[in-house]
Amino acid sequence: MAQARVPIQTDPDPPVSWVALIGFMGTGKSRIGWELSRILRLTFIDTDKVIERITCLTIPEILELYGEATFRDYETEVVRRSLRLDRAVISTGGGTVVRPENRALLAGRGPVVRLNAAAETIYKRTRRHKRPLLEVGDPTERIRDLLRERESFYQEAASFTVESDDRDASDVVADVVDGLRRWAAEHPNHEAVKGIGQA
Ligand code: S3P
Repeated sequence: MAQARVPIQTDPDPPVSWVALIGFMGTGKSRIGWELSRILRLTFIDTDKVIERITCLTIPEILELYGEATFRDYETEVVRRSLRLDRAVISTGGGTVVRPENRALLAGRGPVVRLNAAAETIYKRTRRHKRPLLEVGDPTERIRDLLRERESFYQEAASFTVESDDRDASDVVADVVDGLRRWAAEHPNHEAVKGIGQA
């Protein structure tokens, strides 16, 4: 995804008051979530950042000190709390969908948008950042394996998918907003749609 012009204009008619972003590491959840929150005038919450803030540790430190199961417990707790927010874009961690409980919680609250990209793109986007789960001899192969393992989980939780490969962030955000508009039209009585008048 190229660094590109991103429309700062807010949407005069935001379709939803709550939305979650899911997808593998490096698919653009934080960047797209941030831009989306500006356009829809919602609060941006990144679950990984909340965990880091609360624990005063980085995600790699938590994984190293306490292991993945403890990290996943923190993640579920933050997902649970994010459901109580009325006006928010929730960017989740790449592995949030692995727990059935998290998939059900997110999908039960409102629209869940999956961002997707090819393994090679994901590798390029993540190689400069510390991602303990990818610290192996062949990270691209590991990404492929994890993508395969998680594919059905992403599909199960997602209301719809937007591809983020080789695209400007502004185009990806525009597709997400279009998808949310369609979703809202199909779910006119949903809490996440009715809530938009309360800004
Ligand atoms: C993980 C993805 C990371 C972070 C942790 C585990 C995963 O989040 O939650 O390192 O299991 O895929 P991002 O998708 O924001 O990188």
